[in-house]
Amino acid sequence: MSQPYTNPSLSTAERVENLLSLMTVEEKVGQMLQLPANMPENLGKLEDWNVGSYLHCTGNMVAELQARAEKTRLGIPLIFGIDAIHGHCFENNGTVFPTQLALSSAWSKQLSQSMAHVTAVETRACGLHWTFSPVLCVGRDSRWGRVNETFGEDPWLIGELAAAAVYGYQGDTLASTDTILACAKHYVAYGEATGGRDAYEAEVSPRKLLSLFLPPFEKAVKEAKVATLMVGYQAIDGVPCSANSWLLREVPKNQWGMDGFIVTDWDNIGSLHDKQRVAVDLRHAAKIAVESGNDMIMTTPSFYQHAIDLVADGELDIAFINDAVSRILKYKFELGLFDEHRYTDLSKKDQILGNPAHWHEALEASRQSLTLLKNEGVLPLSSDNKPKILLCGANADDVVAQLGDWSFGSMQAGAADDSYHQKDAITLRQGLQAEADAGRCELNYVRGAAPAEPDFEEILAAADAASNSDIVIACVGDTLSQHGEFHDRADLDLSGHQQAMLEAVKATGKPLIVVFMASKPLTIGWVKQHADAVVCAFNPGAKGGQALSELLFGELNPSGKLTISFPEHVGQSPVYYNKYEGWHARLSERTNNQERYIDMPALPLFSFGEGKSYSEFSYSDLSVANPQLPASDDLAKGEALKVSVNISNVSQRTGLEIAQLYIHDSAASVTVPVLQLRGFERVELAAGETRRVEFSVPYSDLALINAKLEKVVEPGEFKVFVGASSKANDLLSANFRVE
Ligand code: NOJ
Repeated sequence: MSQPYTNPSLSTAERVENLLSLMTVEEKVGQMLQLPANMPENLGKLEDWNVGSYLHCTGNMVAELQARAEKTRLGIPLIFGIDAIHGHCFENNGTVFPTQLALSSAWSKQLSQSMAHVTAVETRACGLHWTFSPVLCVGRDSRWGRVNETFGEDPWLIGELAAAAVYGYQGDTLASTDTILACAKHYVAYGEATGGRDAYEAEVSPRKLLSLFLPPFEKAVKEAKVATLMVGYQAIDGVPCSANSWLLREVPKNQWGMDGFIVTDWDNIGSLHDKQRVAVDLRHAAKIAVESGNDMIMTTPSFYQHAIDLVADGELDIAFINDAVSRILKYKFELGLFDEHRYTDLSKKDQILGNPAHWHEALEASRQSLTLLKNEGVLPLSSDNKPKILLCGANADDVVAQLGDWSFGSMQAGAADDSYHQKDAITLRQGLQAEADAGRCELNYVRGAAPAEPDFEEILAAADAASNSDIVIACVGDTLSQHGEFHDRADLDLSGHQQAMLEAVKATGKPLIVVFMASKPLTIGWVKQHADAVVCAFNPGAKGGQALSELLFGELNPSGKLTISFPEHVGQSPVYYNKYEGWHARLSERTNNQERYIDMPALPLFSFGEGKSYSEFSYSDLSVANPQLPASDDLAKGEALKVSVNISNVSQRTGLEIAQLYIHDSAASVTVPVLQLRGFERVELAAGETRRVEFSVPYSDLALINAKLEKVVEPGEFKVFVGASSKANDLLSANFRVE
């Protein structure tokens, strides 16, 4: 007779309870184990160890493993996780979107959600249920190899975009063919590792954790109901995140009410012993792991036997294991894996992956991710006289550099066949060639210099070709071997002979347009000073070359704005807009009386929020209505601050402006940042149009974390700023009081 847990008409809680009551300790611990499917030695463990989850499983192996799981004693289905980070990029034909950093430049929750939705549909079509995305790390130090994976440097914006991505992945119901579990990672402050050293110690105080690094996760858990969190590799002030029960149990599960489960990052539990040395051996590490609140253990095979032994020896309370397993099973039930969604009809996969509607979304994302940083009147290009264009730089025609990490070419992409990605991608060279084929320009391409080929240079050839052209477009940046996990940089200058190439083509006197195609901000002061136009294209997705060509020829009016500051020099790192006052730095006229090091300004090269358009916008008439205190202690119940401003398109061209709202608490009991983003609006305006735009800031967004670690709104004077970027000259301001 079938057991109650197989009955779909019972509630999830009833089914979990029943199944748990039938499981042995071995079966329970097996559910907590996640092993990589692309390492063959792990596949045989499925039955031996009752493995509950595999990661990085692709192709037909998905169905084979699922069928084997069904034949085990209780038939508990497997849950498959994968790094579908900016599209389901590890599968042939998957739609490749811009990276998170690129996507964030669009400041669009809708885009974040639609990227995630397309990814969910494609991932689920392959029989997989869970992506390790989105990344909620705060990207404040460009030396760190993984800045490309972040939504930039602002915690509030990260929370907004991440919550939208979670909705996109998880939808309204998980028992469906087009939704998957999301995973907010890396919990927490992983990007804050000292000196930009990946996975190194982070020196973050409890107050900074509560003020800056936990809030995006809180939003993902409380508002977007993210199903899973992934634990950062690093230690915070000496305590590895995977050994911190306050971080894993108290905050998300007890305080935020998270009913999902927490997965470690790759071998975090092994590292407790062999790298971080807080566990005397792997058995001790297994005990710490469970007691601290890690529910699923990624790729630490020794965990299995040790956890079983610890329970048998009375050293580990089975209640911890029951809690972890219940959380995992709950989501297996909710995904429908015990019912109609155990298997996926893989025959439909080919029609779903990379279908035209998905590529349409990806192209739109590429377009909106581009940010125009400088334009001395050279853009858009006119096709009237069919200009002779020299295109130079290896990144103009390099799919690997264009797509960035977690895609074709990156470490974990074992299964994907490279030719698929080559087939779908449009490089800048191909995009401009299409313009040339349409008779709009003449195109000559010289590779010139490459970011990661120190011996390669064709500087003379590039300079020669520049002399015979009307205009030069140089594409420079970095490539995959220079970023990602294990790839931090101490030098952020343009690598290889890229700088020499730029200087040589500039010396010809021809107008120079620089397309900066990179994973993250680099120190490109020369480019800012000497190029006639600069377009920033953080890994802009497979269709990035088409979007760039449209922008260069003016078919696309750029609208992206930076979500991350560019350092002027690596010695400025970390550099970010939400900084603090109180630096003993001398003011000088050279830096417009702004704070500075004695040998350079402290301001970034390009600032948070910055980005130009072919249209021109102006702001006026800022007004603010004071917020009302909440009647109870619940900050969320307070009335919103209403702020309005006129935005005018004072140009001849329809365009989209991303208007930003910042606040500053003018007198607080603790030091607070000079500006904090608390709102933005994407406003499309026709030529000559003016619109009154309203922002609504919930009362709780005025709160700070005080010295007692309480979240409070302190009465008194505040300032609100609205404008085109975080730069002082771009902002209107008004005062208001909270009484
Ligand atoms: C390591 C990375 O830190 C994490 O982001 C990723 O999701 C897992 N490995 C799985 O590949």
